[in-house]
Amino acid sequence: MTAGKRFDRVPRHIAIILDGNGRWAKLRGLPRTAGHSAGAETFRTIAHYCKDIGVEHLTVYAFSTENWKRPDNEVKTIMRLLEKYLHEAIDSMERDGIRMRIFGDVSGLAPELQALAAETDEITNRIEGFQANICLNYGGRDEIVRAAKRYAADVAAGKADGDLTEDQFSRYLYSANVPDPDLLIRPGGEQRLSNFLLWQCAYAEFYFTDVLWPDFTPDELDKAIEEFNRRDRRYGGVK
Ligand code: FPP
Repeated sequence: MTAGKRFDRVPRHIAIILDGNGRWAKLRGLPRTAGHSAGAETFRTIAHYCKDIGVEHLTVYAFSTENWKRPDNEVKTIMRLLEKYLHEAIDSMERDGIRMRIFGDVSGLAPELQALAAETDEITNRIEGFQANICLNYGGRDEIVRAAKRYAADVAAGKADGDLTEDQFSRYLYSANVPDPDLLIRPGGEQRLSNFLLWQCAYAEFYFTDVLWPDFTPDELDKAIEEFNRRDRRYGGVK
């Protein structure tokens, strides 16, 4: 693994839309599902690299609320891959010092996946350090609506006073207690957000690359962070 470059600023939180697995496989004459397997390995490599260079949070978009529209066999393969990944993660999180959370509507997932998500949560609660967040059955608008409903329920139950601030609302999102992403990366050539972290990306710097996700290496991440270091973040103010 690359030793890692020195940067003036390392983003605290990097978010990545995993895109291009299918095309990567097609280019090699392989089934799309082979691209997803390769993509899962790339995630493993990039998560370890992020931890090594001092990133605090990595959030990836692995399966959206819209991805159920894909062919049955592809959905099944992705779910199997995620199951295998979480099993392996459960065995290694403590040793590697990698916390893991699932963001998304877990209740819509198979019972086995729900149980694995609960187990990763339990381990995450007792270890410290770098955190990988995997968005599964996730949609940004769905997350905001769900948060609004939970807030309304708290108001009705007398647990919240109705005088809502942005900070308070953030705590109703899947990403409660996670700082907003500083850098949003989309490999695979498309330049859109696709319903990913709509609330949280208000001030994220966007980085797009044509590299397909399975080909995304630590060197590619270095390029994104170098570009991030050239950006002038003003948050609507002046310098
Ligand atoms: C996007 O590529 C990829 C997905 C919808 C699935 C991502 C899932 C994984 C990598 C599996 C496991 C993930 C983790 C985090 C363990 P695409 O199929 O849309 O590619 P295309 O645009 O080339 O068709």
